[in-house]
Amino acid sequence: MEEIKSIQWFPGHMTKTRRKIESQLRLIDAVAVLLDARIPFSSCNPDLRSIINNKPRIVVLNKCDMADPAQTKKWLALFRQKNIAAIALDCKSGKGLNAFIPTVKNVLADRISAWNSKGMTGRTIKVMVVGIPNVGKSSFINRMAKQNRAKVEDRPGVTRGNQWFTIGKGFDLLDTPGVLWPKFDDPAVGERLAFIGSVKDDILDTEQLSGRLLEYLRDNFPDPLCARYKLDKAEIITMQGYDILAMIGRKRGMLVSGGEINTERAAATVLDEFRNASLGRLTIDKAEDHTDVRI
Ligand code: G4P
Repeated sequence: MEEIKSIQWFPGHMTKTRRKIESQLRLIDAVAVLLDARIPFSSCNPDLRSIINNKPRIVVLNKCDMADPAQTKKWLALFRQKNIAAIALDCKSGKGLNAFIPTVKNVLADRISAWNSKGMTGRTIKVMVVGIPNVGKSSFINRMAKQNRAKVEDRPGVTRGNQWFTIGKGFDLLDTPGVLWPKFDDPAVGERLAFIGSVKDDILDTEQLSGRLLEYLRDNFPDPLCARYKLDKAEIITMQGYDILAMIGRKRGMLVSGGEINTERAAATVLDEFRNASLGRLTIDKAEDHTDVRI
Protein backbone atom coordinates (compact mmCIF):
# COMPACT_ATOMS: atom_id res chain seq x y z
CA MET A 1 0.00 0.00 0.00
CA GLU A 2 2.93 2.33 -0.65
CA GLU A 3 0.82 4.61 -2.84
CA ILE A 4 -1.72 5.21 -0.13
CA LYS A 5 0.89 5.77 2.53
CA SER A 6 2.58 8.37 0.39
CA ILE A 7 -0.47 10.61 0.09
CA GLN A 8 0.68 13.86 1.56
CA TRP A 9 -0.96 15.33 4.58
CA PHE A 10 -0.95 19.10 4.39
CA PRO A 11 -1.32 20.56 7.87
CA GLY A 12 -1.48 24.02 6.28
CA HIS A 13 -4.80 23.19 4.67
CA MET A 14 -6.22 22.04 7.97
CA THR A 15 -5.10 25.21 9.71
CA LYS A 16 -6.95 27.30 7.15
CA THR A 17 -10.12 25.22 7.50
CA ARG A 18 -9.87 25.31 11.27
CA ARG A 19 -9.72 29.11 11.23
CA LYS A 20 -12.62 29.37 8.80
CA ILE A 21 -14.83 27.03 10.79
CA GLU A 22 -13.92 28.66 14.08
CA SER A 23 -14.84 32.07 12.71
CA GLN A 24 -18.31 30.76 11.81
CA LEU A 25 -18.99 28.89 15.02
CA ARG A 26 -20.55 31.90 16.74
CA LEU A 27 -23.15 32.10 13.94
CA ILE A 28 -24.38 28.55 14.31
CA ASP A 29 -26.26 26.56 16.91
CA ALA A 30 -25.15 23.03 16.06
CA VAL A 31 -22.91 21.00 13.75
CA ALA A 32 -24.10 18.12 11.57
CA VAL A 33 -21.17 15.73 11.19
CA LEU A 34 -21.59 13.62 8.05
CA LEU A 35 -19.87 10.25 8.12
CA ASP A 36 -19.90 7.44 5.58
CA ALA A 37 -21.97 4.63 7.08
CA ARG A 38 -19.53 2.05 5.63
CA ILE A 39 -16.57 3.62 7.44
CA PRO A 40 -17.88 5.81 10.28
CA PHE A 41 -14.51 5.78 12.00
CA SER A 42 -12.23 6.24 8.97
CA SER A 43 -14.40 8.99 7.48
CA CYS A 44 -14.19 11.13 10.59
CA ASN A 45 -11.70 13.98 10.46
CA PRO A 46 -9.39 13.49 13.44
CA ASP A 47 -9.25 17.22 14.27
CA LEU A 48 -12.97 17.81 14.10
CA ARG A 49 -13.64 17.40 17.80
CA SER A 50 -11.20 20.12 18.77
CA ILE A 51 -12.34 22.41 15.94
CA ILE A 52 -16.04 22.39 16.78
CA ASN A 53 -15.20 22.48 20.44
CA ASN A 54 -18.33 22.14 22.56
CA LYS A 55 -20.96 22.98 19.93
CA PRO A 56 -23.92 20.62 20.03
CA ARG A 57 -23.48 18.01 17.31
CA ILE A 58 -25.51 15.49 15.37
CA VAL A 59 -23.86 12.53 13.67
CA VAL A 60 -25.36 11.71 10.28
CA LEU A 61 -24.42 8.30 8.89
CA ASN A 62 -24.89 8.87 5.18
CA LYS A 63 -24.91 6.31 2.35
CA CYS A 64 -26.54 3.79 4.67
CA ASP A 65 -28.08 2.24 1.54
CA MET A 66 -24.63 0.69 0.97
CA ALA A 67 -23.82 -0.24 4.58
CA ASP A 68 -24.77 -3.34 6.53
CA PRO A 69 -28.05 -2.41 8.31
CA ALA A 70 -27.09 -4.41 11.43
CA GLN A 71 -23.78 -2.52 11.71
CA THR A 72 -25.50 0.82 11.13
CA LYS A 73 -27.80 -0.01 14.03
CA LYS A 74 -24.77 -0.79 16.21
CA TRP A 75 -23.05 2.45 15.24
CA LEU A 76 -26.16 4.47 16.08
CA ALA A 77 -26.40 2.72 19.44
CA LEU A 78 -22.70 3.38 20.08
CA PHE A 79 -23.02 7.12 19.45
CA ARG A 80 -26.22 7.37 21.44
CA GLN A 81 -24.56 5.52 24.30
CA LYS A 82 -22.02 8.34 24.31
CA ASN A 83 -24.83 10.90 24.39
CA ILE A 84 -24.21 11.94 20.81
CA ALA A 85 -27.37 12.24 18.73
CA ALA A 86 -27.04 10.10 15.62
CA ILE A 87 -29.22 9.26 12.65
CA ALA A 88 -28.71 7.14 9.54
CA LEU A 89 -29.93 8.15 6.12
CA ASP A 90 -29.25 7.90 2.45
CA CYS A 91 -29.30 10.81 0.09
CA LYS A 92 -29.83 8.55 -2.88
CA SER A 93 -33.40 7.61 -2.00
CA GLY A 94 -33.92 10.24 0.67
CA LYS A 95 -34.67 7.60 3.27
CA GLY A 96 -34.14 8.84 6.82
CA LEU A 97 -33.93 12.54 5.92
CA ASN A 98 -37.17 13.33 7.74
CA ALA A 99 -35.54 12.55 11.06
CA PHE A 100 -32.93 15.29 10.70
CA ILE A 101 -34.83 18.44 11.73
CA PRO A 102 -36.63 16.79 14.68
CA THR A 103 -33.29 15.35 15.88
CA VAL A 104 -31.61 18.76 15.77
CA LYS A 105 -34.56 20.32 17.61
CA ASN A 106 -34.31 17.60 20.21
CA VAL A 107 -30.58 18.23 20.72
CA LEU A 108 -31.27 21.96 21.07
CA ALA A 109 -34.42 21.55 23.18
CA ASP A 110 -33.04 23.45 26.20
CA ARG A 111 -31.81 26.30 24.04
CA ILE A 112 -35.06 26.52 22.16
CA SER A 113 -37.06 26.75 25.35
CA ALA A 114 -34.62 29.40 26.65
CA TRP A 115 -35.16 31.39 23.44
CA ASN A 116 -38.91 31.01 23.81
CA SER A 117 -38.87 32.26 27.37
CA LYS A 118 -36.91 35.30 26.20
CA GLY A 119 -39.55 36.03 23.59
CA MET A 120 -37.37 34.77 20.73
CA THR A 121 -39.97 32.28 19.59
CA GLY A 122 -39.31 30.99 16.10
CA ARG A 123 -35.66 32.05 16.11
CA THR A 124 -33.93 30.49 13.11
CA ILE A 125 -31.87 27.39 13.93
CA LYS A 126 -28.55 27.38 12.10
CA VAL A 127 -26.59 24.20 11.53
CA MET A 128 -23.17 23.83 9.91
CA VAL A 129 -22.70 20.72 7.76
CA VAL A 130 -19.21 19.20 7.96
CA GLY A 131 -17.58 16.08 6.59
CA ILE A 132 -14.66 14.85 4.52
CA PRO A 133 -14.77 15.24 0.71
CA ASN A 134 -17.19 12.89 -1.05
CA VAL A 135 -19.13 11.92 2.06
CA GLY A 136 -22.28 13.46 0.57
CA LYS A 137 -22.48 17.00 1.96
CA SER A 138 -23.79 18.57 -1.27
CA SER A 139 -26.22 15.72 -1.78
CA PHE A 140 -27.47 16.11 1.78
CA ILE A 141 -27.91 19.87 1.55
CA ASN A 142 -29.55 19.66 -1.87
CA ARG A 143 -31.90 16.95 -0.72
CA MET A 144 -32.85 18.82 2.43
CA ALA A 145 -33.33 22.06 0.52
CA LYS A 146 -35.38 20.44 -2.22
CA GLN A 147 -37.48 18.47 0.18
CA ASN A 148 -38.46 21.67 1.89
CA ARG A 149 -38.76 23.74 -1.29
CA ALA A 150 -36.26 26.30 -0.18
CA LYS A 151 -33.75 28.35 -2.07
CA VAL A 152 -30.12 29.21 -1.66
CA GLU A 153 -29.75 32.54 0.02
CA ASP A 154 -27.05 35.11 -0.12
CA ARG A 155 -26.86 36.80 3.21
CA PRO A 156 -25.52 40.29 3.51
CA GLY A 157 -23.29 40.73 6.53
CA VAL A 158 -22.07 37.16 6.49
CA THR A 159 -18.62 36.44 5.09
CA ARG A 160 -18.84 36.13 1.33
CA GLY A 161 -18.51 32.67 -0.05
CA ASN A 162 -20.51 31.11 2.74
CA GLN A 163 -23.44 29.18 1.47
CA TRP A 164 -26.57 29.28 3.53
CA PHE A 165 -29.54 27.15 2.62
CA THR A 166 -32.99 27.51 4.09
CA ILE A 167 -34.31 24.01 4.50
CA GLY A 168 -37.50 24.71 6.36
CA LYS A 169 -39.31 27.42 8.25
CA GLY A 170 -36.77 28.80 10.70
CA PHE A 171 -34.07 26.28 9.79
CA ASP A 172 -30.85 27.05 7.90
CA LEU A 173 -27.88 24.94 6.88
CA LEU A 174 -24.38 26.31 6.32
CA ASP A 175 -22.11 24.45 3.94
CA THR A 176 -18.65 23.83 5.45
CA PRO A 177 -16.26 26.71 5.04
CA GLY A 178 -13.19 24.70 4.07
CA VAL A 179 -12.17 21.13 3.49
CA LEU A 180 -11.92 18.60 6.28
CA TRP A 181 -9.37 16.09 5.07
CA PRO A 182 -9.57 12.57 6.40
CA LYS A 183 -6.73 11.01 8.34
CA PHE A 184 -4.53 10.01 5.41
CA ASP A 185 -1.45 9.45 7.53
CA ASP A 186 -2.83 6.26 9.10
CA PRO A 187 -2.32 3.53 6.45
CA ALA A 188 -5.29 1.47 7.66
CA VAL A 189 -7.60 4.48 7.40
CA GLY A 190 -6.10 5.54 4.06
CA GLU A 191 -6.72 2.08 2.68
CA ARG A 192 -10.36 2.05 3.74
CA LEU A 193 -10.93 5.49 2.26
CA ALA A 194 -9.37 4.25 -0.96
CA PHE A 195 -11.54 1.11 -0.96
CA ILE A 196 -14.75 3.14 -0.92
CA GLY A 197 -13.43 5.62 -3.49
CA SER A 198 -12.78 8.63 -1.28
CA VAL A 199 -9.23 8.91 -2.57
CA LYS A 200 -8.95 9.67 -6.26
CA ASP A 201 -7.91 6.51 -8.12
CA ASP A 202 -5.60 8.43 -10.45
CA ILE A 203 -3.13 8.84 -7.59
CA LEU A 204 -3.29 5.15 -6.68
CA ASP A 205 -2.10 1.93 -8.23
CA THR A 206 -5.51 0.39 -8.82
CA GLU A 207 -4.22 -3.15 -9.34
CA GLN A 208 -2.43 -3.04 -6.02
CA LEU A 209 -5.45 -1.47 -4.34
CA SER A 210 -7.90 -3.99 -5.72
CA GLY A 211 -5.51 -6.78 -4.72
CA ARG A 212 -5.57 -5.48 -1.16
CA LEU A 213 -9.35 -5.14 -1.33
CA LEU A 214 -9.67 -8.74 -2.49
CA GLU A 215 -7.50 -9.96 0.39
CA TYR A 216 -9.56 -7.87 2.79
CA LEU A 217 -12.83 -9.26 1.40
CA ARG A 218 -11.45 -12.79 1.43
CA ASP A 219 -10.59 -12.41 5.13
CA ASN A 220 -13.73 -10.54 6.20
CA PHE A 221 -16.52 -11.19 3.71
CA PRO A 222 -15.60 -14.43 1.92
CA ASP A 223 -19.17 -15.46 1.08
CA PRO A 224 -20.27 -12.36 -0.86
CA LEU A 225 -16.84 -12.28 -2.55
CA CYS A 226 -16.97 -15.91 -3.68
CA ALA A 227 -20.60 -15.64 -4.73
CA ARG A 228 -19.96 -12.55 -6.87
CA TYR A 229 -16.91 -13.88 -8.69
CA LYS A 230 -17.63 -17.61 -8.51
CA LEU A 231 -14.50 -18.27 -6.48
CA ASP A 232 -13.74 -21.26 -4.33
CA LYS A 233 -13.24 -20.21 -0.70
CA ALA A 234 -10.74 -22.97 0.01
CA GLU A 235 -8.79 -22.20 -3.14
CA ILE A 236 -8.31 -18.47 -2.51
CA ILE A 237 -7.49 -18.78 1.19
CA THR A 238 -3.72 -18.74 0.66
CA MET A 239 -3.65 -16.73 -2.55
CA GLN A 240 -2.14 -13.29 -2.98
CA GLY A 241 -4.58 -10.51 -3.84
CA TYR A 242 -3.02 -10.02 -7.25
CA ASP A 243 -3.52 -13.68 -8.12
CA ILE A 244 -7.17 -13.53 -7.05
CA LEU A 245 -7.50 -10.46 -9.27
CA ALA A 246 -6.00 -12.34 -12.21
CA MET A 247 -8.35 -15.24 -11.57
CA ILE A 248 -11.34 -12.89 -11.66
CA GLY A 249 -10.04 -11.31 -14.88
CA ARG A 250 -9.73 -14.73 -16.46
CA LYS A 251 -13.19 -15.82 -15.33
CA ARG A 252 -14.66 -12.63 -16.74
CA GLY A 253 -12.83 -13.08 -20.04
CA MET A 254 -10.82 -9.90 -19.63
CA LEU A 255 -7.96 -10.59 -21.96
CA VAL A 256 -5.60 -8.46 -24.01
CA SER A 257 -4.25 -9.47 -27.39
CA GLY A 258 -1.86 -12.36 -26.92
CA GLY A 259 -4.21 -13.91 -24.37
CA GLU A 260 -2.83 -12.23 -21.28
CA ILE A 261 -5.21 -11.23 -18.55
CA ASN A 262 -6.14 -7.55 -18.48
CA THR A 263 -5.62 -7.07 -14.75
CA GLU A 264 -6.04 -3.32 -15.06
CA ARG A 265 -9.57 -3.78 -16.34
CA ALA A 266 -10.25 -6.46 -13.74
CA ALA A 267 -9.04 -4.07 -11.02
CA ALA A 268 -11.38 -1.31 -12.21
CA THR A 269 -14.27 -3.78 -12.23
CA VAL A 270 -13.55 -5.11 -8.73
CA LEU A 271 -13.27 -1.59 -7.30
CA ASP A 272 -16.39 -0.36 -9.10
CA GLU A 273 -18.46 -3.31 -8.03
CA PHE A 274 -17.39 -3.03 -4.42
CA ARG A 275 -18.12 0.72 -4.41
CA ASN A 276 -21.58 0.40 -5.89
CA ALA A 277 -22.44 -2.35 -3.41
CA SER A 278 -22.71 -5.11 -6.04
CA LEU A 279 -21.28 -7.46 -3.41
CA GLY A 280 -24.01 -6.42 -1.02
CA ARG A 281 -24.24 -3.91 1.80
CA LEU A 282 -20.93 -4.16 3.63
CA THR A 283 -19.62 -2.09 6.54
CA ILE A 284 -15.84 -1.98 6.82
CA ASP A 285 -15.43 -0.17 10.14
CA LYS A 286 -17.13 -2.41 12.65
CA ALA A 287 -18.78 -0.63 15.57
CA GLU A 288 -17.40 -3.19 18.03
CA ASP A 289 -13.83 -2.34 16.96
CA HIS A 290 -14.29 1.37 17.61
CA THR A 291 -16.03 1.64 20.93
CA ASP A 292 -13.68 4.50 21.84
CA VAL A 293 -14.83 6.64 18.88
CA ARG A 294 -15.12 10.32 19.82
CA ILE A 295 -16.64 13.23 17.95
P1 G4P B 1 -19.47 16.01 -0.95
O1 G4P B 1 -20.31 17.23 -1.19
O2 G4P B 1 -19.35 15.68 0.49
O3 G4P B 1 -18.12 16.05 -1.60
O4 G4P B 1 -20.22 14.75 -1.60
P2 G4P B 1 -21.33 14.70 -2.76
O5 G4P B 1 -22.65 15.18 -2.24
O6 G4P B 1 -20.79 15.35 -3.97
O7 G4P B 1 -21.45 13.11 -2.98
C1 G4P B 1 -20.36 12.33 -3.42
C2 G4P B 1 -20.89 11.12 -4.18
O8 G4P B 1 -21.63 10.28 -3.28
C3 G4P B 1 -21.85 11.44 -5.31
O9 G4P B 1 -21.67 10.46 -6.32
C4 G4P B 1 -23.22 11.25 -4.68
O10 G4P B 1 -24.23 10.98 -5.63
C5 G4P B 1 -22.94 10.05 -3.80
N1 G4P B 1 -23.86 9.96 -2.66
C6 G4P B 1 -24.14 10.93 -1.76
N2 G4P B 1 -24.98 10.46 -0.83
C7 G4P B 1 -25.24 9.16 -1.13
C8 G4P B 1 -26.03 8.14 -0.53
O11 G4P B 1 -26.66 8.30 0.54
N3 G4P B 1 -26.02 6.92 -1.13
C9 G4P B 1 -25.31 6.67 -2.26
N4 G4P B 1 -25.37 5.43 -2.77
N5 G4P B 1 -24.55 7.60 -2.86
C10 G4P B 1 -24.53 8.84 -2.31
P3 G4P B 1 -20.84 10.72 -7.61
O12 G4P B 1 -20.62 9.42 -8.27
O13 G4P B 1 -19.65 11.57 -7.28
O14 G4P B 1 -21.78 11.59 -8.46
P4 G4P B 1 -23.24 11.20 -9.02
O15 G4P B 1 -23.34 9.73 -9.00
O16 G4P B 1 -24.22 11.86 -8.11
O17 G4P B 1 -23.21 11.80 -10.36
